[in-house]
Amino acid sequence: MYDNSQTKKLQSKTSDWLLAAREKSDPVTTGKVDSLREILRFHEYRYYVQNDPLISDEEYDILYKLLEKFEKVHPELVTQDSPTQRVGKGLVSSFPKVQHLVPMLSLENSYNADDLLDWDRKAKELSGLSEIEYCVEPKFDGASISLIYDNDQLYRSATRGDGVVGDEITINTRQIKSLPLSAKFSSYGIEQIEIRGEVLINKNNFKKFNDKLIEEGIPPFANPRNSAAGSLRIKDTAEVGRRNLEAFLYHVSYITATDTRQPTTHSGMLEMLWNLGFRSPKKEMLVVKGIDKVIQHVEDFENKRDTLPYEIDGMVVKVNDLQLQERLGMTSHHPRWAIAFKFKARQATSKLLGVNFQVGRTGAVTPVARIAAAAVGGVTVTSISIHNEEYIKEKQLMLGDTILIERSGDVIPQIVKSFTELRTGSEEAIQFPTSCPVCSHQLFKPEGEAVWRCININCPAQVVERIIHFVSKDAMDIKSFGEANVRKFFELGLLKDVPGIYELDYEVIGQLPGFGKKSLDNLQAAITSSKSQPLHRLIYGLGIRYVGETTAKTLANLVNDLMEFTDYTEEQLQQAEDIGVKVAGSIYRFFHDAENLHMLRKLEQLGISLKNQKKQVIVTDTPLAGQTFLFTGTLNRLKRSDAEEKVEENGGKLVSGVSSKLNYLVVGDDAGSKLEKAKKIQTIKIISEEEFIKMLPQEK
Ligand code: IVH
Repeated sequence: MYDNSQTKKLQSKTSDWLLAAREKSDPVTTGKVDSLREILRFHEYRYYVQNDPLISDEEYDILYKLLEKFEKVHPELVTQDSPTQRVGKGLVSSFPKVQHLVPMLSLENSYNADDLLDWDRKAKELSGLSEIEYCVEPKFDGASISLIYDNDQLYRSATRGDGVVGDEITINTRQIKSLPLSAKFSSYGIEQIEIRGEVLINKNNFKKFNDKLIEEGIPPFANPRNSAAGSLRIKDTAEVGRRNLEAFLYHVSYITATDTRQPTTHSGMLEMLWNLGFRSPKKEMLVVKGIDKVIQHVEDFENKRDTLPYEIDGMVVKVNDLQLQERLGMTSHHPRWAIAFKFKARQATSKLLGVNFQVGRTGAVTPVARIAAAAVGGVTVTSISIHNEEYIKEKQLMLGDTILIERSGDVIPQIVKSFTELRTGSEEAIQFPTSCPVCSHQLFKPEGEAVWRCININCPAQVVERIIHFVSKDAMDIKSFGEANVRKFFELGLLKDVPGIYELDYEVIGQLPGFGKKSLDNLQAAITSSKSQPLHRLIYGLGIRYVGETTAKTLANLVNDLMEFTDYTEEQLQQAEDIGVKVAGSIYRFFHDAENLHMLRKLEQLGISLKNQKKQVIVTDTPLAGQTFLFTGTLNRLKRSDAEEKVEENGGKLVSGVSSKLNYLVVGDDAGSKLEKAKKIQTIKIISEEEFIKMLPQEK
């Protein structure tokens, strides 16, 4: 898309703009506004398509705001493809039906090497060739879309619908930052083009999004596919923007052109799309002659499936020569020039045997289905959360039902549906309890919520869950103090509440079976070292409703001492990023509750730091101190966010792109352009995840 000299030119223009912006001289003029838009588009491309930004988010925002300010004063100069025009415009009332230029067909499926051999044999017979060139690419597991660009501008986009008619969702696809609003198709002689692709949410964003839903008591999506499809049809366009959708474009279905400058192969089309700023599977595709190499490749790829940042459910094999595609033609259902190779299913059928009701740390009563053991995605599943009463109704679940379950990647298993047509009449309705299954206190369902709660905050189930949460890996991370130990100590009366963790009687514990000197020492050391965990971990560990890891970090950055929150008003809390009315209310109530304040004071007396050490302590005595770091590719041992945290904890700094300012590039699996770029800069040390871990101070 942008070659080296263009990149350099645009980057130097970027610096000029940033400088001008800093001087506050109001640098945008009618003559210069196009140049500013070009620069913003360039940085969107670097960030969303290439995953390799050259400027920080703040710098992007400065430039974006310049443009926004100018366009406010000159609304007549706003162009349809201006970077500001992705912004949501409130609510859409409905999505009009539109007909696709060419029907969106399905693909024939294959499941093993024999199926592919058969298909290749037929294609060779039909074409009279002895060997065919194929292009093999991932089968993206998302929601399919169709886009039309007319005279280089995004004109319309639509869902698949029934294949002939879909819903027009242009306003929502404009929110997908990796999709250019305009592209120079004219440089290939193209006037109008219809492109097909898949909208997805990457696994990381999906997990974050689902965690947030769970936190709010809303049932999560079963898989990224459902959430992508659902997100495309949301009527609040700004919300669509927040979902971080991505799009891969993999097929050109229709072209009108003024000449013959268009590619003649499928892989050439994918390259063209890539060169015009789209994400196409150019880097993931393989062009080979003969089906044997195809078979080898799809089998290799299946083994790599879990290391990809997005879900794929198979591979698609396509005849590469477009003229040959035309000759092979299609049936009414699928083209003869392409076939899907489906990976092993991550779904299985099972039976819903019974339901247990569990009480969580916020008192929420969650029904958990006991199911007949089923193997899915490499693990045996025997229980599945079924979230709440409404979910049970929506999925029409009854005891004794045959159900379809799914587990994709590292996502928790979900029930996709129940087969109501298989009922025998002996199925029974699921009865929700009216009192707490642990402490028998009456259950209560707050207005507008879907979850029944036990409101006795001393309910033993809640207390023990709060302690488990406090010690957990993402909170205070007290190693050797797993869930089983917390439950055991709690049942024996050795641990009654969170501060009790720091007052354990090690002599008594030492008498318990299975607690030798070594394990006791480990436990004691882990508990002691948790006293100086960063403040955001403590905040997250407190289990304040609606405060997940991200909000905990936001909160920690606001104060020098946790107790400062007792002086915050709800309005002040709402000033912080990502904190809305509901979350602010919950935080406010937490810090104005006498019991909670008593607990915090007790923790402080016991030596737990309530201070924001990061704001005060500058680490200088580690190999990371003063060095800059960037991570690329998939890490295997550390979560990316934990690795980044370790850098900061140990006095290092994170940077967002490869430049001469970078000291260390830490390379995980499937690293891409960042690695290539770093190799060209001699001063950058390129290290593996293992080497990075070795640089960290050893944990005791
Ligand atoms: S080609 C005319 N390529 O899979 C054929 N489809 O099961 C056009 N899909 O409806 C489709 N990744 O939504 C093609 N690399 C890929 C794909 C892909 C995912 C979807 C697409 C299609 C469905 C068929």
